[in-house]
Amino acid sequence: MQAIVLEKHDPEGVKQTTVPAPAPKHGELLVRLRAAALNYRDSAMVFSEYGRAFRTPFILGSDGAGEVIETGPGVTRVGVGDRVVLHYVVDWTSGDPTDETTRRRLGGPMNGTFAQLVVVPEHSVVRLPDSLSFEHAAALPIAGVTAYRGLFGHERFAPGDTVLVHGTGGVATFAIQLAAAAGLSVIVTSSSDARLADAHKLGATHGINRKATPEWESRVLELTNGRGTDVVFELAGGDSLARSVRATRMGGTVLVIGFLAGMESTLNLPEVIRKMIVLRGISVGSRSDLEGLVNFYATTSQRPVIDRVVDFADALPTLREFGSGGQFGKIVIRINGSENKR
Ligand SMILES: NC(=O)c1ccc[n+]([C@@H]2O[C@H](COP(=O)([O-])OP(=O)(O)OC[C@H]3O[C@@H](n4cnc5c(N)ncnc54)[C@H](OP(=O)(O)O)[C@@H]3O)[C@@H](O)[C@H]2O)c1
Repeated sequence: MQAIVLEKHDPEGVKQTTVPAPAPKHGELLVRLRAAALNYRDSAMVFSEYGRAFRTPFILGSDGAGEVIETGPGVTRVGVGDRVVLHYVVDWTSGDPTDETTRRRLGGPMNGTFAQLVVVPEHSVVRLPDSLSFEHAAALPIAGVTAYRGLFGHERFAPGDTVLVHGTGGVATFAIQLAAAAGLSVIVTSSSDARLADAHKLGATHGINRKATPEWESRVLELTNGRGTDVVFELAGGDSLARSVRATRMGGTVLVIGFLAGMESTLNLPEVIRKMIVLRGISVGSRSDLEGLVNFYATTSQRPVIDRVVDFADALPTLREFGSGGQFGKIVIRINGSENKR
């Protein structure tokens, strides 16, 4: 089968090549992938940006959807022919995470979804409604689940609360869409007026251009009548975190999710303490969060935001360019042909 393999953590170490097809063992499924999606994590794997390397070689790709074509002995949850989306943290099914349940992940250390076939444990998939295409489903596991867990997994937010979201990429567009659907007021920061206009169409209430307004936290305070936002999707890290704390109301929550602007931040601790801010690290979510997200799309006419779909043959060049920004939502890879049901 064709796959994108990371042979070593180096830009020269990633190849699209032919590898042996895998076979399911006890409790496992063989899935023919129909779509995958790109994440910041895939390029971070190539450059070993998380500061740790996995044992190579392995197949890249953490988001994917397809159909079950073979089951190993003992499989009872799903059957051949079922359309499924794959849960990326394969052993985290529900509840609180543990070291054990968060170890195995698709696309490092396990073989991932940039391939024609993948073997996964049966407990790690969610069945898809006919109304959700493989391409839309493939967008969900990392970015969608992260946004879902941030909004619904810990603190309770109520209609009328305000959420601040940075950027207009994968996690951000899910956060905007889900928060707007839950009745929250959404403030978005972006480097682009055109993408702010698109965010508005998606449900954002206010947009702030970060380039034109580098001290955007003052504008957030103005927009919230001086009170501050209830929750922030902090996707940038670096210097952005301190600004986000300033933009947050007393007792509000900052969801620490990404580090597009830097892996280290300096915080004014008396400010965090005085305002009793909750700093909540988010690392994707459980299969049950993915089920909640699939159910959201099964019961509304909304769909995940896809910037573009590329063919598998073009996946490697697209992966090499990923990270330069400019997309609105997710970039999806079409594998083995793919139907496009809405
Ligand atoms: N913790 C988790 O579970 C988890 C899960 C998924 C992703 N992440 C992390 O979250 C971050 C975003 O991931 P993603 O998949 O949404 O990325 P993405 O799809 O590549 O989107 C990135 C977008 O963020 C905006 N951006 C870029 N640099 C920025 C900066 N310095 N300050 C504010 N916004 C900036 C840009 O939007 P504009 O051009 O509109 O500004 C860019 O298009 C990454 O750091 C990723 O590693 C974490």
